[in-house]
Amino acid sequence: MRKLLIMANWKMNKTAGEAVAFFDSLPALPAEVDTAVFAPLTALDALSKAPLAGVGLGAQNFHPAAAGAFTGEVSLAMLAPFGVRYVLTGHSERRDLFKESDAFVAEKYWAAADYGMMPVLCVGESMAIREAGGAEAHTRAQLDAVFGDMTGRVLPKEVIIAYEPIWAIGTGLTATAEDAEAMCASLRAHLADRLGKDVAAQARILYGGSVKPDNCAALFAQENIDGGLIGGASLEPASFAALVEKG
Ligand code: G3P
Repeated sequence: MRKLLIMANWKMNKTAGEAVAFFDSLPALPAEVDTAVFAPLTALDALSKAPLAGVGLGAQNFHPAAAGAFTGEVSLAMLAPFGVRYVLTGHSERRDLFKESDAFVAEKYWAAADYGMMPVLCVGESMAIREAGGAEAHTRAQLDAVFGDMTGRVLPKEVIIAYEPIWAIGTGLTATAEDAEAMCASLRAHLADRLGKDVAAQARILYGGSVKPDNCAALFAQENIDGGLIGGASLEPASFAALVEKG
């Protein structure tokens, strides 16, 4: 049985002080659910010194190189001292706004895995692709960009995938539990093809895209949905705690 995993993606919100204040106001969370927060880079130092009450720390972005002429970027070695365990890869906002290609997403994923961090691989389709009936093919191709050639690859301790339909992100248009389950089941079947049944069965597949306390229970009750990657509804302590409680 896979343990529920609820991850907050704060995106470009919260100064370091606001990030620490979030945890000062966060109610106690049930131990039966794993939790993590992807905070802005500038908040990581303060959060590394704050009582996070068991909530794991993640970084929203990094460069796969160990060091070099990458203006404005940070390396995994720069993140590690803050206790960062998770890193996002392939988020649609990085793909769309910052033009990260599938190849670069794969380079980041494997750099994180090789460094010993836990990459969360985000996949998801646009409304145009869904309406054209290409959603499964699109997200499977995104998985293949990372897992298609496993020559010389060593998987991270856990495979974590976040299915985030682009049309549901920040729109209030949450996918139905049935549609999200169908996609997550398809992704798990594809992981089994690429990585084997055992890895696929243990992988945690999250749903993201307008998850709220009033819709999360139906989503998290699905067989192939193991939690959520939460944006807007994770910014307030009470809302995040409600998501974890209902999970
Ligand atoms: O990474 C999670 C995020 O993209 C979902 O955002 O605001 O729709 O929960 P939101």
